[in-house]
Amino acid sequence: MLRNDPLEQWDREHFFHPSTHLAQFARGELPERIVTGGKGVFIEDRDGNRLLDGFAGLYCVNIGYGRQEVAEAIAKQAKELAYYHAYVGHGTEASITLSKMVIDRAPSNMSRIYYGLGGSDANETNVKLVWYYNNVLGRPEKKKIISRWRGYHGSGLMTGSLTGLGLFHKQFDLPLPQVLHTEAPYYFRRKDAGQSEEEFSAHCAAELEALIEREGADTIAAFIGEPVLGTGGIVPPPAGYWEKIQAVLKKHDILLIADEVVTGFGRLGTMFGSVHCGIEPDIITIAKGLTSAYAPLSGSIISEKVWKVLEDGTDKFGAIGHGWTYSAHPIGAAAAVANLKVIDDLGLVENAGTVGAYLNAKMAEALAGHRNVGDVRGEGMLCAVELVEDKASRTFFDPGKTVAAKAVAAMLKRGVIARAMPEGDIIGFAPPLCLSQDEADVIVKATKEAVEEVCAAL
Ligand SMILES: Cc1ncc(COP(=O)(O)O)c(C=O)c1O
Repeated sequence: MLRNDPLEQWDREHFFHPSTHLAQFARGELPERIVTGGKGVFIEDRDGNRLLDGFAGLYCVNIGYGRQEVAEAIAKQAKELAYYHAYVGHGTEASITLSKMVIDRAPSNMSRIYYGLGGSDANETNVKLVWYYNNVLGRPEKKKIISRWRGYHGSGLMTGSLTGLGLFHKQFDLPLPQVLHTEAPYYFRRKDAGQSEEEFSAHCAAELEALIEREGADTIAAFIGEPVLGTGGIVPPPAGYWEKIQAVLKKHDILLIADEVVTGFGRLGTMFGSVHCGIEPDIITIAKGLTSAYAPLSGSIISEKVWKVLEDGTDKFGAIGHGWTYSAHPIGAAAAVANLKVIDDLGLVENAGTVGAYLNAKMAEALAGHRNVGDVRGEGMLCAVELVEDKASRTFFDPGKTVAAKAVAAMLKRGVIARAMPEGDIIGFAPPLCLSQDEADVIVKATKEAVEEVCAAL
């Protein structure tokens, strides 16, 4: 489409895009896409393409695009009161109503919610609160945080450190020394091919315990993990994993932070992934699905056990020295209240369970037999197809061949967006929770054709 405005040029010359090969983009070697609209599971760009968004943006537009109820709630809030802060006991009708709605939906031991803007800052808050907690309890040495290789918890200083993917550390002088990493719960990539899932879970728990014993339990404050590994490869936990991990944490008096930025608010077919996976966290991180990304908002949901200590802390040390200007921003809160109502009214948690199971079953049926498909896996409305050079020996492709990225590009030509996950040749899917079975069929067909096309050309 011919245009005579300079948007494309301004984009290349002035816009610093996150997670982008900066030099290739500036040179025009990477395509740009200017997105102009969206409805349901589809987005539109200004070249007139209509694409089925099989990753819901960055697994965040859970209710789908274009929901007018949420847009209207945002407009109403902006007209009445666009901003007031939440410091020293201030609130808005939206932020207080939302707090009640979130705690009502959260696991029963949860008590309070602190609001931020994104998943990264929520996890930064969590680490500070865990440190504060141990200082109040008189345990100043108990400060290290254990995360998993392939975990994703953000890209700030601390959260980039918690993230267990090399790309987020490399050349940034991370991880920081207070962070330790342990085995990823990635059964398909286990070293010992003979292990059952239960045996592999026991191995992960043993690795965790060995790390704790090496470092000293009195130096370890918390363990952080996603109920289902997300950006690290979309990997459901192996059988028995969370039960075994939690037993180790309890034994050593280590707090558990469940990072539910992806799994919160329905993605696994339950309101919270912790419930789905049998996790009893002390703190839960939420973001994305809280507002379905209609406005930025995140939260740290705090259990009663941790809350009591924080309260005591302020009696000892005075008001807590933590807060953002935009904590509990009224526009984000209004968006979240409307979003949670849409989730309830449309039964999207149930839909994620049923259509998610359908998508996963159809994907396995279409692709599990392909010689270059090593694993098809998923949980709820999350699905992944892992490509391998040789199936029997689980030999992975040379990363330089960028096989998954090529498959994703081939899917795009067929009108479907998927995501090449950052480490390994993994095609990831996390569609809006309103996906229908027909739309799931479209995703599966495009994936099958693209994988066949790209692998045939290798
Ligand atoms: C599990 C998890 N935690 C934290 C984050 C970071 O959230 P944000 O990008 O909003 O800072 C993400 C982002 O994808 C995530 O998947």
